[in-house]
Amino acid sequence: MNAEPINVTGTPIRGKGEVLLSVENISLRFGGVKAISDVSFDIRKGEIRAIIGPNGAGKTSMLNCINGFYQPQEGQIVFKGERRAKMRPHRAAAGGIARTFQNVALFKGMSTLDNIMTGRTLKMKKGFFWQVLRHGPAMREEIEHRRVVEDIIDFLQIEHIRKLPVGKLPYGLQKRVELGRALAMEPELLLLDEPMAGMNLEEKEDMCRFILDVNNQFGTTIALIEHDMGVVMDLSDRVVVLEYGRKIADGTPDEVKADQRVIDAYLGVAH
Ligand SMILES: Nc1ncnc2c1ncn2[C@@H]1O[C@H](COP(=O)(O)OP(=O)(O)OP(=O)(O)O)[C@@H](O)[C@H]1O
Ligand SMILES: [Mg+2]
Repeated sequence: MNAEPINVTGTPIRGKGEVLLSVENISLRFGGVKAISDVSFDIRKGEIRAIIGPNGAGKTSMLNCINGFYQPQEGQIVFKGERRAKMRPHRAAAGGIARTFQNVALFKGMSTLDNIMTGRTLKMKKGFFWQVLRHGPAMREEIEHRRVVEDIIDFLQIEHIRKLPVGKLPYGLQKRVELGRALAMEPELLLLDEPMAGMNLEEKEDMCRFILDVNNQFGTTIALIEHDMGVVMDLSDRVVVLEYGRKIADGTPDEVKADQRVIDAYLGVAH
C-alpha cells in the first residue's frame, strides 16, 4: 500500500500547512440578530478543523457563509487564493466544497445508491440529449460515475443497504449515506455539521473512523462542527471556538481546552 495520501484521482497531495480557505472579518446579521460578529480564521490543506461553541453560537451560520448559503454583510472568504465577498452555492460546490447538514437532508424515498448518485450531478458533463439516448459518451460517463459511487459504498460499508429507501434506515446510517453523497462530489473541502448528533456510541465510533479515513486516504480537508468534546479532541488538528457569534479561542485541542474563556463559555460562568 502507498503510504502517501492520494486524492480520489490518484494525485499525491501535499502535507498540511498551506491555507486552503480563510474567513476574513465575517459579520452576518438576520434583522436585529447578530449571528456572526467579525470572525476570522483559516483552514489549512489536509487538516481536520473543528468549529465548536454553545447552542446559537453561529457555527451552522459560519458553514452556510463558507458554502454560499448565506451572504455575510461584511467580510470576505478566500478559497484557493480566490477572494470573494459573495460565494454562490453552486460555485462553492463546483469549486470543491461539499457539506452535510445538521438535520439529515436526503431524498427519503430514494435508495442509498440513488441518493449518493445525486452527489455526482455537478460532475456530469454530457448534456440531457446524450443522457436520454443513454448512448456513446453519456453511457461511458454514467459507467464512470457508477464506479465512483460503488467505491464510496464499499468504503462506507453500506453495500447491504444500497437498494433500500433511505427514509427506512436508522438515523446513524442516514448520516453515513449523507456523508457518501458529499464524498461523491470528490470535495477538496468537506463541511460536516454535527455528523454524530443523535448517534449511539457504536455509531459515533464508526463515524469517527470514517472521518479520519476520508482525511487520511483521500487527503480531504475537513471542517467539523461537533458538540462531543471527546470526539473534537480526538479528531481535530485545530479548533476554533465561537460564542454569541464571536470567536473566543483558536488553537490546538489542548490549547483550547485550557483556555479560561472556553471553560467559562461551556460552564456558563460568563452568562
Ligand atoms: N435563517 C435564519 N434567520 C434568522 N436567524 C437565524 C437564521 N439562522 C440562524 N439564525 C440565528 O443566528 C444565531 C446563530 O445560529 P446558528 O444556527 O448558526 O447557531 P449554531 O452555533 O449552529 O447552534 P446549534 O449548536 O444550536 O446548532 C442564532 O441566534 C439563530 O437563531
Ligand atoms: Mg448548528
